[in-house]
Amino acid sequence: MSKSLRERLTGRNGASVAPNGETATAPDGAEGSTASGVPFALPATGSASGMFGPRRGSEADALSPVEELKRSVHRKLIERLDLEALELITDEKLIAAQIRTAVAELLRGETTPLSQAEREELVEQVVYEVIGLGPIEPLFRDKTVSDILVNGPRDIYVERGGKLQRVVTHFRNEAHLLAVIDRIVSRVGRRVDESSPMVDARLPDGSRVNAIISPLAVDAPVLSIRRFGAELGATKLVELGALTDEMLYLLSGCVKARLNILVSGGTGSGKTTLLNALSSFIPSTERVITIEDAAELRLQQEHVVRLETRPPNAEGRGEVVMRDLVKNALRMRPDRIIVGEVRSGEALDMLQAMNTGHEGSLTTVHANTPRDAISRLETMILFAGTNLPDRAMRDQIASALDVVIQVSRLSDGSRRVTSVTEVTGMEGDVVQMQEIYRYRRIGISAEGKVLGQFEATGVRPRFAERLKIAGIELPARLFMEQTGG
Ligand SMILES: Nc1ncnc2c1ncn2[C@@H]1O[C@H](COP(=O)(O)OP(=O)(O)OP(=O)(O)O)[C@@H](O)[C@H]1O
Ligand SMILES: [Mg+2]
Repeated sequence: MSKSLRERLTGRNGASVAPNGETATAPDGAEGSTASGVPFALPATGSASGMFGPRRGSEADALSPVEELKRSVHRKLIERLDLEALELITDEKLIAAQIRTAVAELLRGETTPLSQAEREELVEQVVYEVIGLGPIEPLFRDKTVSDILVNGPRDIYVERGGKLQRVVTHFRNEAHLLAVIDRIVSRVGRRVDESSPMVDARLPDGSRVNAIISPLAVDAPVLSIRRFGAELGATKLVELGALTDEMLYLLSGCVKARLNILVSGGTGSGKTTLLNALSSFIPSTERVITIEDAAELRLQQEHVVRLETRPPNAEGRGEVVMRDLVKNALRMRPDRIIVGEVRSGEALDMLQAMNTGHEGSLTTVHANTPRDAISRLETMILFAGTNLPDRAMRDQIASALDVVIQVSRLSDGSRRVTSVTEVTGMEGDVVQMQEIYRYRRIGISAEGKVLGQFEATGVRPRFAERLKIAGIELPARLFMEQTGG
């Protein structure tokens, strides 16, 4: 099923995709003209006042005359611009210029005055309709917004500074929301419809998108956009209080000395962000291969090869899973392998790589404590379908991993490194670990901020020797039971 851009944007033909039957009211009259390669063609006349007809249906909320005019002009523009021709223009400035001319045409003879700023806003909105994410584009451009969660056309939340808040922005109706979802996913070669109602995609800037629609999403199409968490560098993380200078010094030393590091944390706790920040300490002389489900990492080094898994196509074929990529990466003469997140059997390949000459590899895992992270890995090894006895499995883990860094999202939305733990080996059947740093929560302030402090446990890690050999001295004060943060 392939709808024209116009249909998608105006929500015409929306019945096939909007299960509740709510479709946009397609304004009558004035068929958009597709003339001779001209991106838009306005009728020469027709700017009489009757042009801005009454709004209908679900749009009938109380609006100021200016808002009303804006909306009407907006609709007229979408109706009359040759959107398909416009979409072929890749230069956003050119599109904006074309739309600006059209707005001026439409407003000629109009009595309600629009200020320059309002005109610009209108132009911008239509540009977003044509090439962007529609009404949520401004949220997307707002760098303080980390996540945009659309639970339905009129139910939109954003996360700012770790806190979720509802916003007034809305789509016209379900068809409009679906049109935007459709545009996002079709641009990256995916599709979403009733036969394939759930899709993961990545925007050009690396943000992750998930869309799930009827019949799986019961009430309305749901769109979740999560900005990649890789923009915060190491020093910025210290500034934000995610860890102390001392902790960062130690961790950067671990990376330089090629220790194998596992970052553990819950959803959205900052695992990828920390992984990315740590990767900045990899010397630029090394060949790094990154493997991810959706390429989020932004390594600064020159010599980086990025690999990404692929979901199966509509016929269920062509899937490439992480395990395939890890195996392939090993044949690419990597110095280090970075796996964005281990979820399944690839954990075994990753641990084997760590044990066999690819020291200094990094990965993350979804777990709530360092101990939990280890048992997650055990479960994942089982997914790999080997019959390794428990003991051998744990041996494998204990000898591969050197450090587990636990990150957490605290109740006030802040993210912190809550533990730095060394994996020291095996004792009997149990993987031995010792904590070097921890974050101790003390209470909650009147404003709801979590109060606490970072502490060194006083333990000097055994890997200090390895760092020393690599030329990294760890002054004793790093491990003196102190507080900070
Ligand atoms: N220390 C921090 N302070 C403030 N914000 C942070 C911090 N670390 C990460 N974030 C923000 O938190 C969000 C989630 O971060 P990130 O994607 O790294 O988490 P994650 O644990 O990898 O999530 P997922 O489980 O989805 O993979 C991002 O918007 C990121 O910018
Ligand atoms: Mg992540």
